[in-house]
Amino acid sequence: MPEFQTSPGMRDILPPESARWRRFVEVFALTVERAGYGQVISPLLEDLGVFQRIGDATDVVTKEMYDFVDKGGRHIALRPELTASVCRAFVQHRPVTPWKVWYHGSQFRYEKPQRGRYRQFDQVGIEVLGADDPNLDVEIIALGWEFYRALGLTQVKLLVNSLGEPEDRARYVAALAAYFEANLHQLSDDSRTTLQKNPLRVLDSKREQDAAIIAGAPRIAEFYSEKAAAHFAAVQTGLAALGIPFTVEAKLVRGLDYYRHTTFEYQGLTLDSAQNALGGGGRYDGLVESLGGPATPGIGFALGLDRTLLACDDEGVFAAPAAEVSVFVVDTTGGAEALALTTQLRAAGIAADRAYENRSMKSQMKAADRSGATYAVIIGTHEIEAGVAVVRPLRAERTPDGEGTQSSVPRNLLIDHLQKALS
Ligand code: HAM
Repeated sequence: MPEFQTSPGMRDILPPESARWRRFVEVFALTVERAGYGQVISPLLEDLGVFQRIGDATDVVTKEMYDFVDKGGRHIALRPELTASVCRAFVQHRPVTPWKVWYHGSQFRYEKPQRGRYRQFDQVGIEVLGADDPNLDVEIIALGWEFYRALGLTQVKLLVNSLGEPEDRARYVAALAAYFEANLHQLSDDSRTTLQKNPLRVLDSKREQDAAIIAGAPRIAEFYSEKAAAHFAAVQTGLAALGIPFTVEAKLVRGLDYYRHTTFEYQGLTLDSAQNALGGGGRYDGLVESLGGPATPGIGFALGLDRTLLACDDEGVFAAPAAEVSVFVVDTTGGAEALALTTQLRAAGIAADRAYENRSMKSQMKAADRSGATYAVIIGTHEIEAGVAVVRPLRAERTPDGEGTQSSVPRNLLIDHLQKALS
C-alpha cells in the first residue's frame, strides 16, 4: 500500500468520471442561467462565526466543522455549506435585490464516511435574496426538478413542508418538546439526547422504537399563522399548476436551523434511505439579519453532486462522456513529425493525440486504437519522401462512406481532408 492515500471521506475524481462532474455543473449552469441566476464564487474558508450563525443546534456546526486558527490568529472554518457564505457576501456587497445567484463547489463536513456520505463533497445550488413571493419558492423548487429531468433521472420524489413564521416555529417547538418530555420513557436514548438540543430533529429519527411516539406528535400545520398558511397554500397551488408532483411531509424539518416557511427535499428512490437526500432547501428569512445585514428574505437549495451521480448510476443515465480524440498521429520517424502535425491539427480545432518515446508501429497502432480516435494518420519515411500521410480509419462505421477505406493524402491537403471526413 502506498504511504500516502486520500484521507477518509475524501476522494480523487479521475478521468473520465471528472468529465462527468464537469458536465453535471455545465447542465446545472444552463438550467439556472436560463432563469436569470448568475454565478457566485466565494472562498472555501470563512470566519468560523459565519457558519455559527447557521445555528448552534445543528450537527453541521457543533460536530462536523473543520476549523482552525490561522497564522494571523483568526478562527477559520472550511465551509460546510454555501448558504451562509452567500448571505455573508450579500451583507458585504449589498447587491441589488432580488439577488439571484448559483454556485458550485466543495463542502467539508466531518461525518462518518459511507457510500453517498463523504467529508468532502460537492454541491451545486441557487439562492435568491430579497423576495418573499411564494411564486419564487415554486420557481426554485421547479428548477431543481427540471435539472434532475435534464440529467435523465426519473426516480426522484419531491417532499415539501412549511415550518411557518419564526413565532409559529417557536410555538411548535415548545409544544413538541412538551409532548416528547411527557412521553420520555418511550423515546430511544439517542432521541432523548436530540430532544435536549433540538426537539424538531427528533422527528427525523428513523429508529423503530420512536416511530409510534413520533406518529402521535403534534403537527406543525396546527401552529401556522394565517400568513404562513397562505404562503404554503400558494406554493402548493403553484407546484400543481406546473404539473410537478409533490408530497407534503409534515416531518420534513431538515438538518439546518435557519429554515422558516417552505422547506423541501428531493429524494432518490433508488438510494439507501439513510443517504437518499439528493438535495434540499428552503426559506431562511432571518439569516441575512443574523449576519449583520438588513431584514432580507432568502430561499434556495443545494443539490449533492456525489449522491446525485450515484442515483444516475442506479438509473443508468448521465454516463461519463467517452474521453476521445478524433485523430491519432502515428509517426515512425522519431516523433518530430507527430509533434508538428498534432500541433497543426489542434490549432485547426481537431482533437489529436500521439504516442511518445518512439515506440514501434505496432505499439503506436495499439495506442491509437485505445484512444478512441476515428482516424490514425500514419507517417513513415516513405510518406515523408512522397509528401503524403496515410489516413487509416479506425472506426469504419464513423467514416463518411461507412467502409473505412484507407487513403494516402498529400500533406498540404491533410487538414482539409480530415476536417471534411470528421464533419
Ligand atoms: P443540506 O441538506 O445540508 O443543505 O445539503 C444539501 C445536499 O448536499 C444533500 O441533500 C446531499 O445531497 C448533499 N450532502 C450533504 N452532506 C453530504 C455528505 N456528507 N456527503 C455527500 N453529500 C452530502 C444545505 O447544505 C443547504 N445549504 C441547502 C440550502 C440552500 N438551503 C437553502 N439554500
